Amino acid sequence: MGFPVDRLRRLRRTANLRRMVQETQLSVSQLIYPLFVCPGQGVRREVPSMPGVFQLSTDQDVEEARRTADLGIPAVILFGIPEEKDATGSDAYSETGIIQRATEAIKKTVPDLIVIDDLCFCEYTDHGHCGIIRDGDVDNDATLEIIGKTAVAQARAGADIVAPSGMMDGAVAAIRSALDEAGFPNVAIMAYAAKYASAFYGPFRDAAESAPQFGDRRAYQMNPANRREAMLEILFDDTEGADILMVKPALAYLDIIREARDRVLKPVAAYNVSGEYSMVKAAARLGWVDEERIVPEILIAIRRAGADLIITYFAQDVARRWKDGIWF
Ligand code: PBG
Repeated sequence: MGFPVDRLRRLRRTANLRRMVQETQLSVSQLIYPLFVCPGQGVRREVPSMPGVFQLSTDQDVEEARRTADLGIPAVILFGIPEEKDATGSDAYSETGIIQRATEAIKKTVPDLIVIDDLCFCEYTDHGHCGIIRDGDVDNDATLEIIGKTAVAQARAGADIVAPSGMMDGAVAAIRSALDEAGFPNVAIMAYAAKYASAFYGPFRDAAESAPQFGDRRAYQMNPANRREAMLEILFDDTEGADILMVKPALAYLDIIREARDRVLKPVAAYNVSGEYSMVKAAARLGWVDEERIVPEILIAIRRAGADLIITYFAQDVARRWKDGIWF
C-alpha cells in the first residue's frame, strides 16, 4: 500500500467526492443553544464581551426560543440572572424563581423544544460561588440539599433536563433521588461531569453576572492539567445516573472528549464555552479570521473528538447558514 499506486488526492478531487467520503458529520440536531434570562419586560441587552448574545427578559426569551425551534435546533439551555441575590442563592430553588418562570413560559409556547435548565448557584448567590459557603469554602454536602430542591423546582416548572454545573461531589445522585421522590422519574440529567476551572468562562461571567466575589473556583472545578481525574468524574456521574455526560470547555479539552467517548456508552456533550465564542468574534471583527469558515471547522473538530452534542452560542448562526447549504 502506498504511493504511487495509492493516491489519497483521488478522493479529494471534487466537492461530491469529498462529501461522499467525509467521516464526521455535523447536524443541527446535535446543537443546544444557550439563553440568558434576566428580570423585566422587553429587555434585550447585548453582552459587551459576547456580540450577538443577549440578556433577555422572559418575554424575549420566549421569542428567541421560538426562533431557535423554527431553525430546527432541538434544545435550549437556560441560565437565570435573578433580581435579588443572597447567601444561598434562594431564587434558584424558589417556585417563582427566574429560571422557573422562563421555563414555564417557554414550555407553554414552544412545547416541543427541549428545555434544559442549568443548575448552579453562582448566578444566584451574593458571593458568586456555586453553593453554600462555610469557612471560606463551598460546603459540598450542605449544597447538595439545595441542589436537590432546585432540580425539583425546575422539573415542576417543566424542565425536560436539568444540568448540574457546580462540580459538587454526589450532585447527580442527589438530583436523581430528589427528582424520583418528587414524582419526576422522566426528567433527565445532563451532568457537567468534567468541568475545568477555566479562564475560557470569562465572558459568560459578564453575561450571567456570576463572577466570584472572592477567590476562584479551583476548590471545586477541575485542574486543567488532569486527564485521569476527568475520567473519574465522568464514571462517577455515569454510575450516579446521569443521562448525558458533558465535558467543558471544549477546544482545549478535545482529548478529554475523545477519551470520554471511548469509555462510556451514554451520550457525550461538549460545551463550546463563552471564551471560545468571543475569541472568534473578536478576531473576526478585526478581520483576522473568517468566521464563516472557522465556526464549522471548530464544531466539526468537537464532533470528530467524539462529542455527540454541542452546546454553542453559534447554534443559531449555524442553523441559519445551513439552509444556504454552505456546510461540510
Ligand atoms: C455556572 C456555569 C458557568 C458556565 C456554565 N455554567 C460559569 C462558571 O462555572 O464560572 C460557563 C459557560 C460559558 O463560559 O459559556 N457554574
